[in-house]
Amino acid sequence: MTTLKQDELVGSLDCGTTSVRFIIFDRYANIVAQHQAEFPQYYPNPGWHEHDAEEIQQVSNECIAVACDNLEKSGWAKESVKVIGITNQRETTVAWSKSTGKPLCKAIVWTDSRTKNTVAHFESVLAETGIEVEPGHFKKGDEGIEALRDITGLKLSTYFSAIKLRWMIDNYPAVKTAHETSDLLFGTVESWVTYNLTGGIHVGEVTNASRTLLMNLKELRWDERMLKFFGFQSSILPKLVSSSEVYGSIKDGPLKDVPIGGLVGDQQGALVGNKCLKEGEAKCTYGTGAFLLFCTGKDIVKSGHGLLSTVAYKPGPDAEPVYALEGSIGVAGSAIKWLRDSMGFIKSASEINTLASSVPNTGGVYFVTAFSGLLAPYWDPGAAGLLIGLSSYTTPAHIARATMEANAFQTRAILESMKLDSKTDLKHLKVDGGMTNGDVCMDILADLGGFDVIRPEMRESTALGSALLAGASIRLFGWDLSKPETLAEVNTKGSVEFKPRTTEAEREKSWTSWLRAVERSKGWEE
Ligand code: G3P
Repeated sequence: MTTLKQDELVGSLDCGTTSVRFIIFDRYANIVAQHQAEFPQYYPNPGWHEHDAEEIQQVSNECIAVACDNLEKSGWAKESVKVIGITNQRETTVAWSKSTGKPLCKAIVWTDSRTKNTVAHFESVLAETGIEVEPGHFKKGDEGIEALRDITGLKLSTYFSAIKLRWMIDNYPAVKTAHETSDLLFGTVESWVTYNLTGGIHVGEVTNASRTLLMNLKELRWDERMLKFFGFQSSILPKLVSSSEVYGSIKDGPLKDVPIGGLVGDQQGALVGNKCLKEGEAKCTYGTGAFLLFCTGKDIVKSGHGLLSTVAYKPGPDAEPVYALEGSIGVAGSAIKWLRDSMGFIKSASEINTLASSVPNTGGVYFVTAFSGLLAPYWDPGAAGLLIGLSSYTTPAHIARATMEANAFQTRAILESMKLDSKTDLKHLKVDGGMTNGDVCMDILADLGGFDVIRPEMRESTALGSALLAGASIRLFGWDLSKPETLAEVNTKGSVEFKPRTTEAEREKSWTSWLRAVERSKGWEE
């Protein structure tokens, strides 16, 4: 019988929008074992996107179990896993019963745009009555919008959790009754998964909470004024916790009794995993959507140009938070999935690279991928997906290329806003996520964006971020996020750089056409 190696390892459960993975890292961020599985997506009506929260949990349990088996197959004892972190798709809203622990309805996913009327309702409340910022003192109209942004860092949008939860209470009798009888528990995905893994600990982490419209961004506490604005009881809320501390231990399965020491929204996780820990550092992750986060350090920078202020991470219960400016693009990899599953242009996602590079340009085609409106910096829930410039000459290859260009144009739009808000001109952008595996996509990004694109060798930065936060909670390997030098040995693999090959005049020409296409897409749906 061979003896299994005992060492110190850290696990990370990455609960994304379409799949879950559990990755086990060593102290250098080498992947020692992993398992990934997809889970069902539900689209019951146009604009709707749902998950079954129990399926997310089952797939999470499966990923942990299979990765631990794989770990043992490669010669390591599973007892080597000393702590785990969880990172997750943000904003997706879960409502469950305190008495049964079961979901009361399907989770509403961050991409879902069914709540347009709920948003319109709260916009009119804000315009007419306003938000009560102090007892008896209301701010309304533009002042109300600013007050809401000062409190939460956000704006009213179908994207954020409070709007989704309000819709659930208003439309599902079971959720309404649970709310009225104080049996309702609310949480984003990290909260739901932690609740299940620990056997009932109800916590919510600050980077995730900063996407709910319910948290006070400066003081990192649930804000009574926001609860009142949306009409929620405080009994629904999880206890707010930092991104790095021991919240509880796993109650069952191969990692029984292992502490959970890190929770973080996936985009903030990727920022930490890329070691963008200080002011002025930025990354963009191209997954289902694409999310550009720019670290603003201890300061909350308020955007005047369509970006959000958000918590980047809080490295311990008593530590000061670090903030970020974020530009969120709703559709990135999901457009490639659409080309594969709905259009049948490609058989596998990676084939897009071959198809897109089979033509030298899009033949004049522009694709505004506004499948559920447009997020940053345009914020138009009524924008419609638009393919423009089609002719008899157009082939699937041109459309594939235009899909990649759409990412590049939207990234540039966000960088333009960041430049104005942060007064910093980013000369390079660190990227990761599934879409960045193909060189064509990276070249298009650099060519249309006019900046250097840096693609690290190790692109599991989301999972790595939560592993770093989890490890730091027990000072595993001496990791301490407030001392970046303690992470010097982590992920020292190199990176590849893609430089723009276009002239400024060429870039400006296509940029102007993109802006015209966006104008045509806006306000299509009433
Ligand atoms: O805000 C939504 C985001 O967290 C989803 O990330 O990687 O699942 O597309 P991803």
